[in-house]
Order: sequence, then C-alpha cells, then structure tokens
Amino acid sequence: AVRLRVREALGAREPAEAVRVQGWVRSVRSQKEVLFLHINDGSSLEHLQVVADPSLENRDLTFGSAVEVQGKLVKSPHRMQNMELQAETVRVVGPCDIWSFPLKMKERHPLEYVRQFPHLRCRNNALGSLLRIRSEATAAIHSFFQDNGYVHIHTPIITSNDCEGAGELFQIEASSGVRESAEKTHFFNVPAFLTVSGQLHLEVMAGAFTHVFTFGPTFRAENSQSRRHLAEFYMVEAELSFTENLQDVMQVMEDLFKTVTSTVLSKCPRDVELFHKYIAPAQKVIHVTGRSCNFFFSSCRISYSEAVEILKQASQTFTFKPEWGCDLQTEHEKYLVKHCGEIPVFVINYPYDLKPFYMRDNEDGPQHTVAAVDLLVPGIGELCGGSLREERLPFLESRLQRLGLTDAYQWYLDLRKFGSVPHGGFGMGFERYLQYILGVDNIKDVIPFPRFPHSCLL
Ligand code: 4AD
Ligand code: MG
Repeated sequence: AVRLRVREALGAREPAEAVRVQGWVRSVRSQKEVLFLHINDGSSLEHLQVVADPSLENRDLTFGSAVEVQGKLVKSPHRMQNMELQAETVRVVGPCDIWSFPLKMKERHPLEYVRQFPHLRCRNNALGSLLRIRSEATAAIHSFFQDNGYVHIHTPIITSNDCEGAGELFQIEASSGVRESAEKTHFFNVPAFLTVSGQLHLEVMAGAFTHVFTFGPTFRAENSQSRRHLAEFYMVEAELSFTENLQDVMQVMEDLFKTVTSTVLSKCPRDVELFHKYIAPAQKVIHVTGRSCNFFFSSCRISYSEAVEILKQASQTFTFKPEWGCDLQTEHEKYLVKHCGEIPVFVINYPYDLKPFYMRDNEDGPQHTVAAVDLLVPGIGELCGGSLREERLPFLESRLQRLGLTDAYQWYLDLRKFGSVPHGGFGMGFERYLQYILGVDNIKDVIPFPRFPHSCLL
C-alpha cells in the first residue's frame, strides 16, 4: 500500500486502491452500521475521515490513540470534504488513556489551558496551526532574502560581545565540574554571553557581501511575565551595504513583512483563518487581512520629535510623562499607533544619547539625533528596530572614546578603516511578527515550547 499524508489524501484528485495513512485519532463515532474516525497527522488542520465496518472497532481505538489505517481512498459523499478513506484494516499503534489525557475530544480548549501541557499541546488544533504557520513563515523569510540576493550567515550564539546595550545578558560558564585549571576563571578566558543580537557579526559580513541576513535564536535576561517578551526568541536581522538612506532600510522591513505575510496567507489559509476566527479579537487582524482578498500594509511615518509633540498634546495622561530625550514607553507606543489610525507606524531619528554607539549621527545639531527607526504595530508595539550605522571613522572613534570602549571595539573600528561604506540594517522579532499577523495576545502562545511550565501559567 502507498503511504499518504493526510494532506495528500485530502487533496487527491483520483480515488486510489491500496493506501496507508498513519496518524492520531481526533474523533471516533460508532454507529450501528458504520464506524467513523477522524485522523490527523499534523500535515493539515483538516482531518481525514475514515469509514470502517463496526467490526473493526476495538477497545484501544480511542481519541488520542496512534493508528495505521489501510484501505481505499474514495470520493466522499459529504459536501465538506473531497476524499475519505474506506478502511480495510485499522491497527492501533499506540493506545491513549482518554481519562488521563488532558485534551478532550471535540473540545475547543483555550490557549491558556493547553499552555499547561507544553508536551502535549501540539496535538491541539490551534497549536498545530500555529506550528505549521511558524514553519511556513520561517521558510518564507529565508526565501525572501535568498530571492533578493542576500547571503545567509550563521552568526555565533556564544559571544563575548556584551557592549551593544541591546538587552540584558545571560552569561555562560562551564558547569562547576569542568575546570581545566585552578587559575582559570572563565571557560573562554573572557566573559562569554548568549547573543542578544547578531548585528555586529552581520556588519563584518556586510563588508564583503553587501547584503546579508541571519535568522536565529536570541537571548535576553528579560522579565518573563510580559506578554511581549521572551528570554529566548528568534530574530530576523538584515544588513545592507551601500545604503545611505533610512528609507531603504524601511523599505526592506515593509517588503519582508508583505512578502512573508502573503506567502503564509496563501500557504496556510485555513490555519490563519482559525486564529482570526476563534482566537484574535476581531478588530486586531483587519490590518493584515484587508478588505478585498489583497492584503494591504499602509503605514505612517513620523520623527521621534513629532512623536513627542503628539504625546505632549494628548488629552490622555501617561504614567511616564513624555519628554524629549526619554525612551518611548509601551503606553506611548500604543497612543501613537492609535493616533495614526491603528496602522503600522515608523518612528525615525531618535535622540543621540538614547541609542547605541553604532547608530549614525544625523548631524542636525551637536550630537542631537541618530538615523534610527522603530516600526510600531497595533496591539504589539515595537516589531522592528534598525538604523543606519556610523560608517565614518572619526565619528565612531570619538564616540567609542567617550564611552571608554575603544579597546574592545578595535575590530569594529577596523571595518571603518578598510573599505568602509554607508550601510544600515534592522532586526525583526519573529514571535512578535507571528503575534501581530495572527492576533495572539500572549507571546508564549506562539513558541513551540513555553519555557518553564510552572511559571508560564502566570
Ligand atoms: O530593537 P532590538 O533590540 O534591535 C536589535 O537588537 C538590533 N541590534 C537589531 C538590528 O538592527 N540588527 O530588537 C529587535 C527586535 C525588536 O524590535 C522586537 O521585535 C524583538 O527584536 N525583541 C524581542 N522579542 C521577544 N522578546 C524579547 N525579549 C525581545 N526583545 C526584542
Ligand atoms: Mg529596539
């Protein structure tokens, strides 16, 4: 018998004689003359209907059990499905104790409920859809960059790079049993950390390839109770050489967003629909799906200074008083997105002193603003952050000098000595991207494994 995935069986054009389908039982309905099963193997949201003789029923054939069904694939008489499997044999590969199995047949479990079972929740419809979407989006991100001539770089995960100021660090050492010599304090002789961003390594590569990207895990010792922060998350980062304009960086953010989102919508329409129909609050996804079938992305662009003015004139009172020179808080970001009509908002040109040393001085006053950009989106806040990088050696040298970082960043200064070019780049949080397009409130619901099962209930 030919082995078929559920997706292939459902999409088959022609009936087929000897086929074999493997998966897990999603429902069992036994009638006097016929036994109906629904089988799912993770290849699609839809289950394959199996029609069997009641004599094939057995005690172990329950919701949740793993089965292998052999039989004939035939056109289904039901309007809702194309094909069904007429079983000749049904073998229970692995039984499932339905009384202790936390997922129940035909129940729509809330995300908060299934989050309690990180090891079992992938068998829930919503999580299954999420993981398929995550997989398609990952592939679409790689395709977007590869199709546009970017070279993919595996930037290091363990690094001694600690000064970027992007986020709080996790330091790593060998476990206490591993000690090469008594006087050695650090495993790598210097303090080492889990990466908070691959940007500086990408900048090295942008000195040879013009267009590079990385897409990997990133670590920040952040408060894990937040609905938008994770200690371990995935970041997409790109770096573009010969780029003098912040607009060009913003264009790549927008093109990436549009291309990946259209691919996901066309590759897993049913999976996305499940989120929009049952999980997202209705108003949240309008910006992604659009009125016609063409999805749209309209965005607004304001400077940081304009943003502060808008906030100062707001009738709303904020916990953090808006003041030029202070970071935009979540409440500010929310207000700005609302003010612009609940569409994505690019905020550009931030105060020099607020941003890391590598951002390019706009020279609009003595150390006044830098060419930075944040993309804020409805319901989430910051989705992308990027900038033009300071490519001018004297500017960078004096800034690093003032920060006392000249020695640590000799290698970075070298990049400005040997064929320096204007360049820029950005990073996009992958989980926040998924939250945004699917309308998911808690970031823990868009990762395969919510960390630390005991705390994630909070
Ligand atoms: O704005 P961030 O800190 O930017 C950088 O790290 C730059 N070096 C990127 C670059 O230019 N190559 O982080 C980028 C994005 C944020 O906009 C946000 O979407 C996401 O990463 N992010 C997080 N997502 C989940 N959990 C966290 N703790 C996050 N911190 C940042
Ligand atoms: Mg940022």
